[in-house]
Amino acid sequence: MANTAVKKTLLDVLHGNRQSVPPIWMMRQAGRYLPEYRAVREKAGGFLDLCFSPELAAEVTLQPIKRFGFDAAILFSDILVIPHALGCKVSFVAGEGPRLDPLSDPKLVGSMKRDVDHAVLEPVYETIRRVKQALPPAVTFLGFCGAPWTVATYMIAGEGTADQAPARLFAYRHPEAFAQMIDNLVEASAAYLVRQLRAGVDAVQIFDTWAGILPPEQFARWSIAPTARIVAAVRTEIPDARIIGFPRGAGSSLERYVSELPLNAVGLDWMIDRKFARERIQRRVAVQGNLDPLVLIAGGDALDAGVDAVLEAFSDGPFIFNLGHGITPETPIANVERMIRRVRGG
Ligand code: CP3
Repeated sequence: MANTAVKKTLLDVLHGNRQSVPPIWMMRQAGRYLPEYRAVREKAGGFLDLCFSPELAAEVTLQPIKRFGFDAAILFSDILVIPHALGCKVSFVAGEGPRLDPLSDPKLVGSMKRDVDHAVLEPVYETIRRVKQALPPAVTFLGFCGAPWTVATYMIAGEGTADQAPARLFAYRHPEAFAQMIDNLVEASAAYLVRQLRAGVDAVQIFDTWAGILPPEQFARWSIAPTARIVAAVRTEIPDARIIGFPRGAGSSLERYVSELPLNAVGLDWMIDRKFARERIQRRVAVQGNLDPLVLIAGGDALDAGVDAVLEAFSDGPFIFNLGHGITPETPIANVERMIRRVRGG
């Protein structure tokens, strides 16, 4: 009998092929809205301890696959493991978010380590090997990193801020030091993604959560250009590497992003004009998104209408159903189930 290999539908979309039923996963799908995640999180100790425990990180990576049957698993880790592996002190304060020693003095950039310590990241690669063995064959396995701009915003402010004023000011005042920092992050992130792909992920996503806060010229310089260098460096090592970009909030600059970056898919936030995204973005590249995460909290008719609007806009072309940003802890699980049923036509 012919060997009928099971198709990974999401990977097929990344090859440019529309699916009759769009594959579905959610950003932050392993997280606090799941009681099984909270249970593991409690026994892990600190959040980074969870990221660096292959056994527990593999378990939480698989939780949403087991519960919901999503078409993709995303490696459980965090974008801030890169500054951690570059020697910055990173911690997570429960209920508040990440804390780093703020890098406010441009002179400190020169003393920043330029090479990631892959020994620090080895547990992440081990998590990938474990998940890969346990994952059903039709499920696509995604790795990720943060885009240099977004990672830099946390390194400079030392915490999350509403408008990333510290990093924007730093980039205006000290462009050379900032460029050096971005260069370091480009190299570290590319090396990190190559190792993730070699350890067994099928594709990687580059999260640029704070791309949308930049004026267009700065967006080109600090978001598009460094991301282009990461993509090129990864493809030098792994020519057919599948890469998804997610510049949240890019708005009309998304057109420049997809024309300058040779990506396999681009993530759409929930704010983007759908007609623009369909006509100007999806014509060039597969799209992923764009349900408002708040509609998933609201549920009911608002959720059904939200899902339908997304499907109507994008399901005629290569499309991956997802949220426009991460799922939040207060989201009812029943609403996630309702969303999945509706997307799959159940
Ligand atoms: O399920 C998944 O998507 C995989 C795991 C994942 C996490 N963070 C786990 C996490 C991924 C892909 C990320 C990416 C990430 N981390 C981004 C980019 C995407 C985005 O959501 O914007 C950013 C900006 C970060 C940095 C970060 N990590 C912040 C700002 C916070 C605090 C906010 C919050 O939600 O608590 C984190 C912590 C974090 N990362 C949690 C999880 C599940 C919650 C912490 C906990 O469980 O105690």
